[in-house]
Amino acid sequence: MKAMTIEKYGNVPLEQTEQPLPVVSAHDVLVEIHAASINPVDFKIRDGKVKLLIPYQFPLILGNDFAGIVTRVGPAVTQFQVGDAVYGRAEKQRIGTFAEFIAIHEDLVARKPDSLSFEEAASIPLVGLTSYQVLHDVLQATPGQKILIQAGAGGVGTFAIQLAKAMGLYVATTASSAGHDLVKALGADEIIDYRTVAFDEVLHDFDGVYDTIGDDTLRRAFKIVRPGGQIVSISGLPNGRFGKAYGSGFLKTMLFRLLTVREAFLERKYRVTYTFLFMKPSGRQLQHITEWIETGQIKPVIDRVYPFEAAQEALAYSESGHAKGKVILKVK
Ligand SMILES: NC(=O)c1ccc[n+]([C@@H]2O[C@H](COP(=O)([O-])OP(=O)(O)OC[C@H]3O[C@@H](n4cnc5c(N)ncnc54)[C@H](OP(=O)(O)O)[C@@H]3O)[C@@H](O)[C@H]2O)c1
Repeated sequence: MKAMTIEKYGNVPLEQTEQPLPVVSAHDVLVEIHAASINPVDFKIRDGKVKLLIPYQFPLILGNDFAGIVTRVGPAVTQFQVGDAVYGRAEKQRIGTFAEFIAIHEDLVARKPDSLSFEEAASIPLVGLTSYQVLHDVLQATPGQKILIQAGAGGVGTFAIQLAKAMGLYVATTASSAGHDLVKALGADEIIDYRTVAFDEVLHDFDGVYDTIGDDTLRRAFKIVRPGGQIVSISGLPNGRFGKAYGSGFLKTMLFRLLTVREAFLERKYRVTYTFLFMKPSGRQLQHITEWIETGQIKPVIDRVYPFEAAQEALAYSESGHAKGKVILKVK
């Protein structure tokens, strides 16, 4: 099959190569991919930034989420049949959606929403599951709560705002002026132009922050959260709490603890809990997300669609950091 691969970590261009079809285990479905989406984790993996958490083998096919058609099922598969249109987020140890086929455990796949094209469906799994896990699982947000979503105009932000509104939350978000109309149309209640206004000088007593930026932006967020509130970051550094929950072992957990001493200090100072989240694939959670899509409460937001051969340009555009919504790779 054709695939977009790298041979080593670093800022190397994607190359189109021929790769063997993935091995289909008993509980796997083999999906012919029609579309994949680009996520910043793709270039982070390429750069070797994720190797502490997941060591990959080369040649490595990049790509983390997909929409396509089931073309084979393993002997123990019960939920899907050949011909089903599905979407999902690849297993972290078995990524590779910038390719014609992927094998994936059936529990990690959901039926594609009928109302969406393959390109639209491929935009959802990674950002959708991440936002569900942040807002629902960790923050356990309840209607009326106030939440700040950083970078509302990005791939994660455009989904997160819609999900937060569907959950009945009050949403403040940051965006440059180029993204204001978009985040307003998605339902944001309060928009802060991050280029001209410091969010931590205008927001107070928030119940939670969904941080997608990390670094100083993450640390400034502690100031705006009420005592007892929470910050969940998907871009900060993993802390000791994450290490334990992720089963990272003693040494890595100690390393994470050392790397996040400033966050630990701020947690005590402001009586706010900090959690780093590394999203997990889940067919069951994706099925919940499908329901919000089918009722029209959440719509895909697509910035650009690139042909398969232009995967390198698609990755470079995402890496520019200014996408408005999602960047899609049309595979078939
Ligand atoms: N841990 C996990 O499981 C997980 C899961 C998903 C994503 N992530 C991470 O989350 C981050 C965001 O992902 P994404 O897909 O949303 O990225 P993205 O689509 O590339 O985000 C681009 C958007 O970010 C905005 N932006 C950039 N700097 C900003 C700032 N300082 N304040 C407010 N907005 C800013 C840009 O707006 P302008 O063009 O107007 O500047 C642009 O619209 C990435 O680092 C990604 O790796 C982690």
